Order: sequence, then structure tokens, then C-alpha cells
Amino acid sequence: MTHQHWRLDYFSDLAMLTLDVAGQSANVLSQEVLNELGHILSEIDTKPLQGVIIRSGKTNGFIAGADVREFVAINDTARAAELAQLGQHVFSLIAGLPFPSVAVIHGFCLGGGLELALACTYRIAREDSATRLGLPEVRLGIHPGFAGTVRLPPLVGDLPALDLMLTGRTVSAREARRLGLIDEIAPERHLQHAAESLLKRHAPRRRAPWYHRLPGWKPLRPLIVRLLTPRVRRKAHPDQYPAPWRILELWRNRATEEQEAQSLGELLVSRTSRNLVHVFLLGEELKRRGKARPHGIEHVHVIGAGVMGADIAIWAARQGFRVSLQDQNAEILARAVKKAHAFFKSKLRDPRAVQEAMDRFIPDLDGQGLSRADLVIEAIVEKIEPKRELFHGVEQKVRPQTLLATNTSSIPLEVIGQALKDPSRLVGLHFFNPVAKMQLVEIVRGAQTAEPALERARAFTGAIERLPLDVKSSPGFLVNRILMPYLIEAVKLVEEGVNIVTIDRAATEFGMPMGPIALADTVGLDICLSVAQELSEPLHMDVPENLRRLVAEGHLGRKSGRGFYAYDSRGRRQQSGPDKAPASEVPVTERLILRLLNEAMACLREGVVTDADAVDAGMVYGTGFAPFLGGPVRYIESLGETGISHSLARLAQEYGARFAPDPGWSQPELLARRPQPPN
Ligand code: NAI
Repeated sequence: MTHQHWRLDYFSDLAMLTLDVAGQSANVLSQEVLNELGHILSEIDTKPLQGVIIRSGKTNGFIAGADVREFVAINDTARAAELAQLGQHVFSLIAGLPFPSVAVIHGFCLGGGLELALACTYRIAREDSATRLGLPEVRLGIHPGFAGTVRLPPLVGDLPALDLMLTGRTVSAREARRLGLIDEIAPERHLQHAAESLLKRHAPRRRAPWYHRLPGWKPLRPLIVRLLTPRVRRKAHPDQYPAPWRILELWRNRATEEQEAQSLGELLVSRTSRNLVHVFLLGEELKRRGKARPHGIEHVHVIGAGVMGADIAIWAARQGFRVSLQDQNAEILARAVKKAHAFFKSKLRDPRAVQEAMDRFIPDLDGQGLSRADLVIEAIVEKIEPKRELFHGVEQKVRPQTLLATNTSSIPLEVIGQALKDPSRLVGLHFFNPVAKMQLVEIVRGAQTAEPALERARAFTGAIERLPLDVKSSPGFLVNRILMPYLIEAVKLVEEGVNIVTIDRAATEFGMPMGPIALADTVGLDICLSVAQELSEPLHMDVPENLRRLVAEGHLGRKSGRGFYAYDSRGRRQQSGPDKAPASEVPVTERLILRLLNEAMACLREGVVTDADAVDAGMVYGTGFAPFLGGPVRYIESLGETGISHSLARLAQEYGARFAPDPGWSQPELLARRPQPPN
């Protein structure tokens, strides 16, 4: 029988099963792949074999998990539970083979992929930094469903198993070995031999030592759950993110495979999981766009070594690019070098890798790197004239094929481009602060920007493992434009006398990673003020007086020790005001969120981005907008546009014209606009 995804070979009493999913760059476990595996297992089950080796035919990894795209098509709990049962059944065939099995793992081994490996008698992993194992299901609002919740605790111990499932973190081959998740690690050339010898040796099956299984003792389990509860609560509100709570519940009850499947079925069709899957797929789509073309960039020259320039340069060097970093101020450059060293040391650990990264990172006071650069990124002060002057000079020194980029937050590309003979080579590469944490980069298209320049910019962004999002050059682009009315509304609430803790609490309870007041303090009130001023005219937005006053008094937020909150010398927030947020008569959450949604609609109507998905991707990956809601557009769809525009009209009557519903609310086709499928 021929197989589409699996290859079956026999040699010296052993069977070798190689997974190479047809038509996919990475192995994922679709129902078809699982069914095929089921057939093969029933076929080899009756053969007189000494063992079976399961491995991947893809260079990038073992198995990335279940096929997330199939989740979207499943609409009822029973169907979703059946999907889990299918995986459980096929993996039980592996576990029930009359001879031992070994999973040989390289690259990623995630979710359902790791559960497959858990069903094997042994696991071996390739010893290199690309190997990552984990159960990241919780990040999609679900938990392992192919018997992972049942098989993992006895193998690694109860607390490590809970940690892996609750955080969804991935571990290296070495850590996996230490945890007992795998039996052996070996370099590529020894993998096959190690697998064969494990099978032939009939080594005993691994089990966590008794003291690691002790927390699973029935009388102790409720106590452990009580101890873990505060930690889980800090990360996941049970109404917003139920999956970690389910993991605790399954563990406490020593759930069976059937109960696991049932619970997975319920979660998979829940709103949270639907939205987290939406967010995940949006991220995958942006990644795909970042991979579409070669970029031809080896040397990056960054000008301006301040907050953003230094971080962009450090990040690019960390990702393997040769980077020269220019600043007019030698002291600032020296600070950037120190920062780079500390960053590489914390991330790369291995002293040789740190040295190599430092060798790629070249401080450059006089701009010597310009003549060799393939890409120049400007990140100097946010002022038109200095930027124009700079680009005028840069254009004369760089090669004709060098791509030019600006990190401006608010100056139209066309304005900067006036300084260039050839403005078609200028793009915006708008990074977010802090660069190492925020995945999004807005790829800004000016009226004259040429498509090949945009393609290279996207490809470079993908190459440094950031997500490129196309936006039009218009005030605030997408993310700052949508965020700013929300921040300004928060500042207005302060002016009206609402307690800052109350305001921030309203936002975090809604699901934002941080309240707007704390966010403004973190970004810097001077930066907020300059973006607000920049947007005030085109968006008819007035800038609150208290924001101007704080900046004039030198209270710039966390960096100056005081903004709306007070901070100690290490930037930690001091307790200010009451412990509990006092209740407010004013509809705080509604005012904050509706301004944000109204602006999201305006961006869609004006074509700042081409489709509704881009709004969700931008806000979730650029600001951390409540992922369980799937982004602003998903949230709008769940509430209904009519209701929102009525609420806005009501708020406009009470609080003023800034709440006037955007004309886009009466054009429902805007929300239905989805990206064109790739060719
Ligand atoms: P910054 O003030 O921290 O750094 C600017 C640096 O540029 C300074 O070190 C200064 O010495 C240097 N510089 C100024 N003129 C120069 C010249 N002609 N040649 C060489 N070096 C020069 O500014 P920051 O915050 O890093 O912002 C830089 C750019 O990034 C701005 O366009 C800003 O709008 C944008 N941006 C800032 C974000 C933030 O959160 N701070 C976020 C995203 C974009």
C-alpha cells in the first residue's frame, strides 16, 4: 500500500516510519496524517519486529503539532472531542505495539508531536540549539488532547509536567534530558545508532523518581492546586483564559483519556480558543509574508543610537546581520556597545557566540559603514529637518541598490522623501519599543515607495524574526493611531478626577497587558505628547492640559522617576494612593475601549491597512491588545457594529464630539474585508 505522508522501511528486524507531510514545509498532524499512521501501525503490529523508529523527513523539525487550520472548521464540542479521540486512539496503537518504539527528534517537537513521542517507549533528541520540545496548547486556549495530560506526569513528575502544560514553554534537548522527557541526546551522526541500540537493549522504560511523583499523591493534590492557583491567576483570568484552569482540574482529578478528550472538545470551540487560534494564524500569515522573497541584505547601517536605534541594531546583530551603528554622540555610542554586550551575554550565554555577535556589532561615529550598507535604518530625533538633511547626505554615500528606511513614528514618508533624488527606495520600518519584546514592525508605504523596496523591507523584517505589517503612510500609521485616542481618553479621565489605579484596573480587567496610564509612563510622556500633537490636527484630537503640564515640569514617566505614577531609582513603581481601586461613576472601560474601536474603524475606512485582519494583527502583536478577544475587529464582530455605533452616539452626547461614530460603522463591508489569498 502506498502512503502519502508516511514512509515505511524495514531493515534488520526494525521498521522505520518517516513522516514527511505532503505539500507542507513542516510536519503537522492532520486527521489524514493520523489515519494513515493508524493503518501503518495495524500493518506492522503483526510483524516479527524488534522495534520501530519514528522520525521526520523534514529538515526543520520533527512535528509542529496538530493541524491548527483544521480546528477552525470544527463547530461542535462532540466533533472536537472526536478529533482528540482519533489522536488518542492512534497513539494508543503505538503504546500497545508488541515491540518497543523510539521517537528520534530534531528541531521542533511540539504539542501533538510531543504527545506522539510520549506514546513511544523511548525518545532521543538531536543535540543542537534548534531542538525545542514543548506542549504550547495553552497558548491556543486548549490543553494537550492526545493523552499528553495523562502520559506526561508519570514520565517527568507532576510539578514539571504542570509547569510545561501551564506555561506552554518549550525546552532545549538538554533541559528535556534533565527533566526526563527524553532518554538520550546525541549528535546527528549518532542518532540512528543510538535509536537502534535503545530498541535492541530493551532498556527499561523511563519513569520519574518517586519523589517527583509524590505531589500526585491523592491527598496532596488539592493542596498543590491551592498553591499553584495564585500563580495561574496572575497570568490567566478564568473567564478569559479557561485552559490553564482546566489543566489543573484534569490533573487534580487524575483525568482519563476520555475526560481529556471531552474537556478539549469544550475548549476547542470556545470563544477564547477561537480567538487565540485567529491570532496565531494572523501571526503565521505575517511570518509567511516575511519569508516570501530574498532580501539580499548582509550589512545594516543604523543611524541614531538612542532608545530605538540601539535596540534595533542590537537585535539585528543578534539575528546574524553585520551592523554598523552611527551616532553623533560618542558617549551614546559607548552606552549602546555596553548594552549590546549585556544583551548578547544574557541571550547567547556561550562566550564564543557572544564574541561573534560583538564582532558583528560595529560602533561607527563617522558613518564609515554607509558605503558598504545594504540597508540603512534612520532612528534619529523625531524632527523633519534633521531627518531630511540626514537622508540627503546618506543618499550620496550609499550604493544605488541600498534600501533606505526610517523608523519615524509620525512624519509622513513623502515629507522625508523630498530630500531624496530617488524617493522610491525609501520605506518606513516602524519598530515598537522595546524591540526585543514587540514582534510587530509596520512596513510603511509612502506615495512614491516602490514595491521591490517594500518586498525587501518585509523580507528583512522576517529575517530578524519580527512580523511585517503593511501600512499606508498616514498620521500615526496603524498602531499608534488606534492607541492614541485610548491613551488620551485615559488622561482625560485623570483630569476629571478618576483615580489612576481605577483607570488602569479597568483596562487590565478588560484584558490589556497594562493599563493606559502605566503604558503612557512606560513609553515616556514626552513621546506620548509629541505623537498626540502630531495627530491632533489630522484627527481633530485635543491634547489634554495635564499631559502638557507634566512634560513641562520634567515628569516624563518611568525614565524620569515620575509621571502619573512615581518610580524608585530602579524604575519600580511606588505605591501611590489607595491599594484598592476606588469605584467610579464614569463608564471608564466603555470610554477607553470605544475610542479605540472607533479609531480602528476609521483606519479601515481610510485604507490605512487593506483588510480587517491587519487591524487585529497590528493591535495584538504591536500592543498586546487582549488576545483572548482576537483583536479589535473580532471584538467588534462579537458585539455587533450597530450596538457599538449607538453606544458611541450616546457617549458623544454626554462627553463630546470625540465619540462621534466614524462613518465606517455604516459600511459593514469594511469589516468583512479579508486579505487576498496568496498566489
Ligand atoms: P532618542 O532621542 O533616544 O535617540 C536619537 C539619537 O539620534 C540620539 O542618540 C542622537 O544623538 C542621535 N542623533 C540625532 N541626530 C543625529 C544625526 N544627525 N546623526 C547621528 N545621530 C543623530 O530617540 P528615539 O526615541 O530612539 O527615537 C528615534 C526615532 O524612532 C524617532 O523617529 C522616533 O519617532 C522613532 N520611534 C521611537 C519610539 C520610542 O518608543 N521611543 C518607538 C518607535 C519609533
